[in-house]
Amino acid sequence: MVVFLYVIAFLVHFVKPQSTPYLSLTVSAKWNNIEITYRNFSNYSPGDIIFLTDHDPVGIPSSPLEEYRVEGEQGYKRTHVHYSYSYPTIVGMTSGCHKIWALYVTSVGEIIYKTCLKNYPTWMNDMLPNLGNLSLRSFIIPGTHDSGSYRENQAMKNMYPLNYYITQDDNILGQLIHGARYLDIRPAYYEDSKDKWYVNHDFVIQQPLTVVMDQVIQFVKETKEVVIFGLKEFPVGFSNFSRHTQLVEFMESYFGDYIVRSNGFSYWSMTLNEIVSHPKARIILAYDKESIFYEYRLMLFPGVFQHWGNKRTWPALEAYLRKVQRSSIFPNSDMAELTPSAWDVLTNPHGGLSQMADDVNLRLSNLYENELLREANIISVDFIRGTRIVELAVKANEKRFNIQ
Ligand SMILES: *[C@@H]1O[C@H](CO)[C@@H](O)[C@H](O)[C@H]1NC(C)=O
Ligand SMILES: *[C@@H]1O[C@H](CO)[C@@H](O)[C@H](O)[C@H]1NC(C)=O
Ligand SMILES: *[C@@H]1O[C@H](CO)[C@@H](O)[C@H](O)[C@H]1NC(C)=O
Repeated sequence: MVVFLYVIAFLVHFVKPQSTPYLSLTVSAKWNNIEITYRNFSNYSPGDIIFLTDHDPVGIPSSPLEEYRVEGEQGYKRTHVHYSYSYPTIVGMTSGCHKIWALYVTSVGEIIYKTCLKNYPTWMNDMLPNLGNLSLRSFIIPGTHDSGSYRENQAMKNMYPLNYYITQDDNILGQLIHGARYLDIRPAYYEDSKDKWYVNHDFVIQQPLTVVMDQVIQFVKETKEVVIFGLKEFPVGFSNFSRHTQLVEFMESYFGDYIVRSNGFSYWSMTLNEIVSHPKARIILAYDKESIFYEYRLMLFPGVFQHWGNKRTWPALEAYLRKVQRSSIFPNSDMAELTPSAWDVLTNPHGGLSQMADDVNLRLSNLYENELLREANIISVDFIRGTRIVELAVKANEKRFNIQ
């Protein structure tokens, strides 16, 4: 009997799934501090330290930006290290590290994990050899909610009432370099304004449309990645239906050969290989207005369906995301962010969208990591560098199809 129990104990010990340690860096939304998430350090002992540095460290750093005493196998820490977004975005179009590195060092001075802030500017092309025969519906695709709602002056996102409109820290180029491939664009038209075409958040102008389009062109030109340019809502200036026609024609002349054109049948069932067989065309114009799509069906794609819960609190958002039906054969996006009510916007109890994002972004990352990632298609978030969504999506895409 005793021998039997030993055998059981032995089996349980070794059959236990391998627990891979994991350390990840994110950037908080409100004050842009570096955050550390660590998991599965099962050999943790008191005295283990995580160091942050501003360069790729060789050995144990003598003057780190900050050091943090690890408090268990897993944990989370918002540090005092500040991340500054740089404009123009100069982090480069190659995958890899920039600005901040992290090192896990055990109490006996052994370095057991190193990571950094990462960018994923070429993740789709990196997967082409193995996954090129799949359509975009088969991938997990990071996206940004209200992608044009950023200011290159970071301080503005915390000023009332703009703090209820700005949803991103990175400009469009920065979002794409970080790994987002779905952009949520709300075009607006103002007859009497200089640029006429804008990207709005509701009734508030965010960027001239051409500023946003230029960055998408620059990105696809340099990386050849595929970008879904999702047009929807059309909040201002579209009461005259012919405005849609003008918009489509404007985009056609501006994006030109960069527009992915379907043959009029395949659309979202086009494989990645089919899309990239064209030398330039990488921008998918997903137009959320059926009659316009039919009118221009050789250059537009049907819109991306958005699962938007309109939730103000984490428990409500979490419950909503768990219940979303993602079985559609068409691309569909979880809108994984909180939405303030009109009263919230008037009375400012939440300190704005950046604070709301800090409240949910890491919980969202955990929810997708533990439960929802495999069934998700597009996942759109606020302040994307405050989530681990890109890292999780890229890894899951690789793993889903067993490539390394
Ligand atoms: C942590 O370990 C568990 C098994 O112990 C595993 O299921 C999980 O995927 C690991 N998490 C990460 C992020 O590696
Ligand atoms: C993709 O499809 C083409 C044409 O059917 C085939 O030749 C190729 O082997 C496929 N690639 C992979 C990785 O399955
Ligand atoms: C709509 O716009 C078109 C073109 O700008 C114009 O010719 C037409 O008169 C407008 N229709 C209405 C009802 O305003």
